[in-house]
Amino acid sequence: MKQGFFCARKCVVCNMRYVSLMVLIIFFCCSGQNEKSLEKENRVRGMVVSAHPEASAVGYAILEQGGNAYDAAVAVQFALAVVYPRAGNIAGGGFAVFRLNSGKTGTLDFREKAPIQAHRNMYLDQDSSVIEGLSSFGSLSVGVPGTVDGMLQLHKKYGVLPFEMAIQPAIDLAAYGFALTKKEADKLNQYQDEFLRANNFDFPFLNSSGWAEGDSIRLPMLAKTLERIKDHGRGGFYAGETAKNIIDAMHDVGIITPEDLSNYQSVWREPIIGSYKDFKVVAMSPPSSGGIALMQLLQGSQSFDFKRMGHNTVESIHVMAELERRVYADRATYLGDPDFNPVPTDMLLDSAYIANRNARISLEKTTPSDQIREGKVDVIESVETTHFSIVDKQNNAIAITTTLNGNFGSKVFVEKGGFFLNNEMDDFSVKPGVPNQYGLVGAEMNSIQSGKRMLSSMTPTILEKNGELYMVLGTPGGSTIITSVYQTILNVVEHGMTLQQAIDSKKVHHQWQPDAITYERGAIDSAARNELIRMGHELREVQFIGRVDAVLMNNNGSLEGGADPRGDDAAVGF
Ligand code: GLY
Repeated sequence: MKQGFFCARKCVVCNMRYVSLMVLIIFFCCSGQNEKSLEKENRVRGMVVSAHPEASAVGYAILEQGGNAYDAAVAVQFALAVVYPRAGNIAGGGFAVFRLNSGKTGTLDFREKAPIQAHRNMYLDQDSSVIEGLSSFGSLSVGVPGTVDGMLQLHKKYGVLPFEMAIQPAIDLAAYGFALTKKEADKLNQYQDEFLRANNFDFPFLNSSGWAEGDSIRLPMLAKTLERIKDHGRGGFYAGETAKNIIDAMHDVGIITPEDLSNYQSVWREPIIGSYKDFKVVAMSPPSSGGIALMQLLQGSQSFDFKRMGHNTVESIHVMAELERRVYADRATYLGDPDFNPVPTDMLLDSAYIANRNARISLEKTTPSDQIREGKVDVIESVETTHFSIVDKQNNAIAITTTLNGNFGSKVFVEKGGFFLNNEMDDFSVKPGVPNQYGLVGAEMNSIQSGKRMLSSMTPTILEKNGELYMVLGTPGGSTIITSVYQTILNVVEHGMTLQQAIDSKKVHHQWQPDAITYERGAIDSAARNELIRMGHELREVQFIGRVDAVLMNNNGSLEGGADPRGDDAAVGF
């Protein structure tokens, strides 16, 4: 459980203490509080959980000003674009899964698109070999951004406050400055060389003497860009000065044109809806693989008694790995942008198909991944993404996962706009059959085509229990997103953990290729490790898996926020 705080920061413009958000912030577990005591204290029930304390505070302040979850989501998205520039963004994309208090559910796809001039072989040399780094660094790696259109559409359809109110906190943060956390200062220091390699001018994130915790950063150009979006909506980003600034920033090799920008539209899509035991699961449809893969995992899990097996035991890790390798094989083979190639969703979620696929899981030994399906086919995305979950006082809910792809995206900074451009093109299969920068390869379904959306793993998800809102969750983590969301659900539903315990607990992951269980340091003890190796698993230790931010509705209607301790994540509200 994280500590409550008053959000205060230094206003570097007027050099006076600037209290940004005078909101009383109470971090989660309000199960003891009933409606009456909430009314007495005159606070607004609601919960905002995001990767950054300032962004969570902004979202909760919007709820306090009478906004609903969708106004708060727009405010958080824009605030993250300022205070969390490595993944928060206005020049990236993402997915929203929402549930209105009426029970209506839906999704919004604001994923980036390949530019019109993009083509299948754009990252290959004359010998058809992949040119290293071209799809992940610099102007040619940039997809047409979707975030601003997504937020405008979301607000137009479901917001209740004026748009200006939702975007103003981000403008203030950019104009007056914000303080760096230790983790964000370290991250900026880590990327200084790449910033210099991608840009030949000075900009606010450069610091030759190194950033430190508490340093203040102002982004006046970003404040101006956000002002233009406030004043002109789409035209403030996809046309006019901002569009010109974006295209100027890619003057070297970029192929995004004014037409690409003005054509961009996000898409309302039907969610993937399924069930796991008593729970209805509402998740993202393609071009994210998240919803289908999560549903395949959860449906497959119904044939096993995870409660009996226990959390992170040899047996439960082995079964999860076996389910996961099969699901990720399907993911790589069958999933891509449904606007370009039909995705066989019904087949992939058919219970007989899933049962048949999992029928040969042995509890004694592994099934090597090359026996699961021919060919070494897979996609993995960068782990640098971000997620936020929001529930308002009326139980409107939204889960948004949003990304620039890599940390700080392409590293190309729009000098006159004050923001980084994404490197989402690397989420395509740059050359079907050949590994991408993360050592894996992709399939034909996800090959590059003009105007196509690249496959994603983002898995914003909402669960209902007995027809009522139950859980809102998601995480960054590239290909580990799906398995982190899956384990968080199992941890609560099968292993009886509180939401925070479920998030805190160490995760494991298998993605078919490479044929190995990746595990978070401390997830598996040495006896279990030896036993898993004896069964045929290869094991790889990593420091962190996932960064889940979630909200759970308790039986008494109180909201429990769960913020991942792996980052600076904060739950604000009650
Ligand atoms: N770029 C991360 C994802 O889309 O999954």
